[in-house]
Amino acid sequence: IATEPRHLFSPDHHVTRAARAAANGHQGAVIWLTGLSGSGKSTLAMALERELFARGRQVYVLDGDTLRTGLNSDLGFGAEARAENIRRAAEMARLFADAGLVVITSLISPFAAERAKARAIVGANFHEVHVKADLATCEARDPKGLYAKARAGEIRNFTGIDSPYEAPENPDLAVDTALRSKDAALAELVSYVEKAISAR
Ligand code: PPS
Repeated sequence: IATEPRHLFSPDHHVTRAARAAANGHQGAVIWLTGLSGSGKSTLAMALERELFARGRQVYVLDGDTLRTGLNSDLGFGAEARAENIRRAAEMARLFADAGLVVITSLISPFAAERAKARAIVGANFHEVHVKADLATCEARDPKGLYAKARAGEIRNFTGIDSPYEAPENPDLAVDTALRSKDAALAELVSYVEKAISAR
């Protein structure tokens, strides 16, 4: 929207990231969950939030569906719109992490290049987590009935059906929800995140 030259000068915070980490007893971080619809991202994200909160962590989930009802309500599911969706989520996650929070993002984020951009935007303490379940498993679960609609042609550009999902080749962590129980997947995530945020 803004095409004219802009003259911007971001002021420095007097409260540093280190000071916030010392006050909270842990680092800010972004735990970036990626996976197919129905892979278990939102379920795991909310369970992880609850568990970390119970342990006294400052934690918040940024969920794709939720963001799309507000900040990203102008975006659809074409490649360009998804890229913008990821960019905005990454910028928000960066700010929240800078404020000292453990941010758990729960977006399909199907394109490797956009996830790499998210990592670059966030900078410090970004962790890509593949919530891994094969398409057949996700489609059999179909918790929202969206795969059935996509197969019937009622939803276009559906990830895994007529829009690609590029699985991470080298994620920081892969959590298999097809083979492992929800509790086991959660335990793996909690222990990973606790290490990632431990005050250094
Ligand atoms: S993306 O690709 O990261 O921009 O997607 P995201 O913001 O995570 O939104 C995914 C949720 O939107 C619903 N939905 C769709 N998903 C994929 N493709 C299409 N065409 C689509 N249309 C609607 C769906 O509820 C997704 O949520 P999850 O939790 O992944 O099932």
